[in-house]
Amino acid sequence: MLLYLHIPFCDSKCFYCSFNSYVDKLEYKKKYMEAILKQFDYETQKFNIKKNSIKTVFIGGGTPSTVTPELYAPFFEKISKYFDGNLEITTEANPNSTTSKWIKGMKELGINRVSFGVQSFDNEKLKYLGRNHTSKSAVKAIENAYNTGIENISLDLIHDTKIDDKKLLKNDIDMAKKLPINHISSYSLTIEKGTKFYNIKETSKENTNEQIWFYEEIEKAGFPRYEVSNFGRYICKHNVGYWKHKDYIGIGAGAVGFKRDKRFYPHRSIEKYISNPLYQDIENISKIELKEEKVFLGLRSFVGFDKKILNEKESSKVDILIKEKKVMQKNGKIYNLEYLLSDEIALFILG
Ligand SMILES: C[S@@+](CC[C@H](N)C(=O)[O-])C[C@H]1O[C@@H](n2cnc3c(N)ncnc32)[C@H](O)[C@@H]1O
Ligand code: SF4
Repeated sequence: MLLYLHIPFCDSKCFYCSFNSYVDKLEYKKKYMEAILKQFDYETQKFNIKKNSIKTVFIGGGTPSTVTPELYAPFFEKISKYFDGNLEITTEANPNSTTSKWIKGMKELGINRVSFGVQSFDNEKLKYLGRNHTSKSAVKAIENAYNTGIENISLDLIHDTKIDDKKLLKNDIDMAKKLPINHISSYSLTIEKGTKFYNIKETSKENTNEQIWFYEEIEKAGFPRYEVSNFGRYICKHNVGYWKHKDYIGIGAGAVGFKRDKRFYPHRSIEKYISNPLYQDIENISKIELKEEKVFLGLRSFVGFDKKILNEKESSKVDILIKEKKVMQKNGKIYNLEYLLSDEIALFILG
């Protein structure tokens, strides 16, 4: 079982970000961290959680480092009863709010992996993206985390912004390479409705050649690729669980839960969530939709999918793709050889 906790607070709103996070509701932190306890109790029944059930925990956001370890402590006390011995517990963090004290407190609670939202080591680009940290503070936060004993550290980068060029991107990789990290996620900038960038022209460029080059450079720097945007000597177990379609509990405003053929959506608004943390919209997922998700998710990463879930027509399309060396078959499973074409390949198979 995977457990996701959503923290919907941020110290500032980045110009590109449409995630469920708020900069003007920080006074709700305490009440919010109480509400998640109630939802977790409810989920233990719904998911029939037992001892050793929880294999991975991921705290995402928003910005988890805006909440103190003291406020997380009651949640950890509750969930730790269900921990499997050797579990991965990741938290996302923003370099600015990640102090040594915060990292130390979170490590004491059991955190053993931190994923930093760095985006770039270029100060101009950071300003352009509306980030509130600098290259120097990102380096310091990562070194602090490592010196505190966090063994698995990842950083997020964003590419395909208007101001990127090969020199800037190469510097980002060179900086990353020198740091004590074992994982990089690099996302192409997407422009979402409701963000500051949505109203500005040409903030992103879809430069496929530059993206291919950048991803190759990340691999050359010692981070093997295992998903469209993920690279590392360490593979994030929590994400692999999603791609393998495992059940997951989603705690918090805007979190999503998944059990067999249903998705659960608690309130997205912080106020509504606090007033009723047990409320959930339920989405029923049909067998066909589940199959399509398995194909899409499987092709986006190294996990692949079972060929036997496909019908005859779909299977024959996979055979064409095998001949064209776009995918390969091994022990009844289909694996993608062209991550950047993963959605197109899935659409071809299912279309
Ligand atoms: C929840 S944030 C990480 C933690 C923290 N909130 C931070 O930003 O430092 C998750 C990541 O999603 C990525 N992201 C968010 N919006 C994006 C967008 N529009 N395009 C590309 N990447 C995006 C960023 O790389 C960001 O680090
Ligand atoms: S990218 Fe991270 S810090 Fe920036 S607004 Fe989004 S969640 Fe908050």
